[in-house]
Amino acid sequence: MTDKLLISASGPLRGTVSVNGAKNAALPIMAACLLTDEPSVIENVPQVTDVLTMAEMLRRLGVEVSFAGDRATLRPGGTPGTEAPYELVSRMRASICVLGPLLAKHGRARVSMPGGCVIGARPIDLHLKGLQALGARITVEHGDLVARGSPLRGARVHLGGAFGSSVLGTANVMTAGVLAEGVTVIEHAACEPEIVDLAAMLSAMGARIEGQGSPVIRIEGVPRLRGARHRIIPDRIEAGTLMMAAALAGGEVRVEGARAEHLGAVIDKLSEAGAQISKLNGALRVQAKGRPQAVDVTTLPFPGFPTDLQAQMMALMAVSRGVSVLTEQVYPERFMHIAELCRMGASIAREGASAVVKGMTRLSGARVTAPDLRASAALILAGMAADNQTEVTGLEHLERGYQGLEGRLTRLGAKIRRVSDAAAP
Ligand code: UD1
Repeated sequence: MTDKLLISASGPLRGTVSVNGAKNAALPIMAACLLTDEPSVIENVPQVTDVLTMAEMLRRLGVEVSFAGDRATLRPGGTPGTEAPYELVSRMRASICVLGPLLAKHGRARVSMPGGCVIGARPIDLHLKGLQALGARITVEHGDLVARGSPLRGARVHLGGAFGSSVLGTANVMTAGVLAEGVTVIEHAACEPEIVDLAAMLSAMGARIEGQGSPVIRIEGVPRLRGARHRIIPDRIEAGTLMMAAALAGGEVRVEGARAEHLGAVIDKLSEAGAQISKLNGALRVQAKGRPQAVDVTTLPFPGFPTDLQAQMMALMAVSRGVSVLTEQVYPERFMHIAELCRMGASIAREGASAVVKGMTRLSGARVTAPDLRASAALILAGMAADNQTEVTGLEHLERGYQGLEGRLTRLGAKIRRVSDAAAP
């Protein structure tokens, strides 16, 4: 039975909502537990299906994974596997982040090649370039990447690509470099907070890393790592989504756990759009009234505006005063949500890697299907600014990365109801 969300015009939103742990930090941090034989405990792990897929992957690789609420305990020790199968990699591209740890720990790895996905071709050349620089020999056999190399040797590697740095490429080279002989220097490294969090976990495990959060990361290899306890940072994309919901529906919402230093570009654009954002102790407060102003946004690697909030920003701009241009500089094909938003009466024209959005007073409720994870949140937001009822299907995408989003919006006053197909009117 598939679920759907029924959404009615909502707002103003009022109250406090807290942000879960960051999915994109949890995934490579869980994979990093492959680097040691000792148990690790990770706290503030979001209960989303991508995390469950990573847990399943790690179990196949000989790690015992158990959850107690938001705490995951990972105990390596079973028969260590080194093969990441197609059925899991095809379900979640981020499975590629087991490649660096497996190679570093066992000197070999076989990871099914992740294909493209709806947001574009998504190559992995930078991951491979980085690992090859450390001495790995990588071939493609029957659709699998087969990497060998023992010991890995530290090297200087430049990880800039046509669209800037690579987040998981940086994670893979970092997790390989921590056990390599000698010093690894990653230039044009991703500066995302999730990379800083991964470095914090690796450091707690005994790795020697400097420069995380800057474009140059220096790693001094160590012979072995120990288990560690680590708390995942709050999810800046979930925080940004909740802030945009408040900006769209109006009202006053305190987003507990949202960190201003992770959300600079988002705070800047939402303020320009007319929302008032204040930094409180451990939280951000969003106050908004009336329609937002149109603003132009370009997605960029951190600290730029995140591509993972582009779709939600487009929903906000769909009801703004004026015309805005949203430009993708990370995933130029990431516009699957335009067609769905247009079904709801939005006026959006795609021009290459940009979308020109003419703000409307209201949208009109419709049946829409979420084409990908972040687009699913955008459609929920759009439904809150639409007359009549909006019905969102394709919720498997939402559940990959958002934990109980609709329930948390509902507690703030949004009118959202989850029904299973059989119960739907
Ligand atoms: C991560 C995030 C994803 C986010 C993305 C960009 C996780 C689990 N996922 O994905 O939510 O949208 O960062 O912030 O953390 N590229 C190459 N060659 C490569 C690798 C990437 O050309 O080897 C390109 C990509 O096609 C894209 C850009 O670089 O245009 C950024 O991709 P990347 O940072 O690697 O994304 P992910 O790490 O896969």
